[in-house]
Amino acid sequence: MFNKESETLQHSKLKEMQYERMKWSLRHAYENVPFYKKSFDDTGFHPDQFRSLDDMQRVPFLMKQDMRANYPFGLFAVPMEKVVRLHSSSGTTGNATVVGYTKNDLDVWGEVIARTIACAGGGPKDIIQVAYGYGLFTGGLGVHYGVEKIGATVVPVSGGNTERQLMLIKDFGTTMLACTPSYAINMTDYVEKNKPDFDFRKTKLRSGIFGAEPWTEQMRREIESRMGIDAYDIYGLSEVIGPGVSCECSEKSGLHVFEDHFYVEVIDPETGEILPEGEMGEIVYTSLTKEACPVIRYRSRDITRLYHDGCKCGRSFIKMEKVTGRSDDMLIIRGVNVFPSQIEAVLMENENTEPHYQIIIDRTGALDDIEIMVEVNERIFSDEIKVLNQLSNRIRQRIQSVLGISAKITLVEPRTIARSEGKAVRVIDKRKLK
Ligand code: DLL
Repeated sequence: MFNKESETLQHSKLKEMQYERMKWSLRHAYENVPFYKKSFDDTGFHPDQFRSLDDMQRVPFLMKQDMRANYPFGLFAVPMEKVVRLHSSSGTTGNATVVGYTKNDLDVWGEVIARTIACAGGGPKDIIQVAYGYGLFTGGLGVHYGVEKIGATVVPVSGGNTERQLMLIKDFGTTMLACTPSYAINMTDYVEKNKPDFDFRKTKLRSGIFGAEPWTEQMRREIESRMGIDAYDIYGLSEVIGPGVSCECSEKSGLHVFEDHFYVEVIDPETGEILPEGEMGEIVYTSLTKEACPVIRYRSRDITRLYHDGCKCGRSFIKMEKVTGRSDDMLIIRGVNVFPSQIEAVLMENENTEPHYQIIIDRTGALDDIEIMVEVNERIFSDEIKVLNQLSNRIRQRIQSVLGISAKITLVEPRTIARSEGKAVRVIDKRKLK
């Protein structure tokens, strides 16, 4: 469902639409959520003073901790009888954040997912296997209703049970797969090890929408070559709606943000200043149409940049670069800032390492130690120690030269690092436990 009318809007028309919707959203939040009233009043901002989108810099931010402090329904802007669905994001510390949806919110969500599927070349003829987890996580049900909205056929299998996933791909003639990129890799590994007769290329699978966690271009190549499909990035976060905030099109060169529903800014995470288009920083979201849980200038902690590139697909919406890390995932190792995705990019330069790794950080005395456990493939595993040593030395040197940190590299046997069926666990920071 390529919504031509919205998705190809001229820039000035889009800005007019965003301004009108923003006025509504600010007022809606201010009048119906005591938290917003207080936070706007405290900074001396009133929605009546909102004269143009340039005034956004006067609007206070919403932080993750504000959402947690208002657990469970404190940020809802409509009475509970208008809320028809709840979801929640687990979070690793503190209260989970809870989000609610009105009927209209669910319509918008279905629409942005339907557009995402269209962006990835899908349509009513597709059979789409949703292997994101169903339940409170937004991935499963979020994608599910978008599939129905576009008129495709949904296979609501949820995550896990790889054997059954493969059976369904084959028997039902699944054409599009929706799951985390790490689970897609996990499936290909499973096939290599257990099902030598199963060939993805002999199935009808031809594309996938992968997201919910950062993944690199190398991982894309790996999924595409091992499954023989086109792999597209789908991004979103529960606080803003769930999956469907942005997605890649045929160009695979950044993700179009559905700007008619979500207003985006990139800020300097240290100062909170809005950065000019093209600069790297933390992306901040404001919902323009959401009724149950409006989010006003929500600081996502995701690091990216925004740009217009006159996309060949015809969509005029701004693009965001693939999110490669979060400001709160950033590891500071002996004072050097490192994102797990940068480590992944170095590991994937080698043809004998697998995209399965774990980064373990610890502190002995005053110094941080970092160990990277990397799985090697069968081809090299049976080789002599000398060859393995050469590989680990090469990785160590590359990490040193690209990232400026010295890491201990431990090569491990194929399939020793725990596999995920949802989001992969890449980092174990033992310093936090001390
Ligand atoms: O992960 C929603 C989702 C489900 C997106 C299915 C795509 C597909 P949360 O659990 O709230 O929501 O986690 C949101 O995950 O702030 C990012 O840090 C990360 N994330 C989500 N999609 C991507 C992506 C869902 N494509 C948090 N690339 C976000 C990188 C992503 N990071």
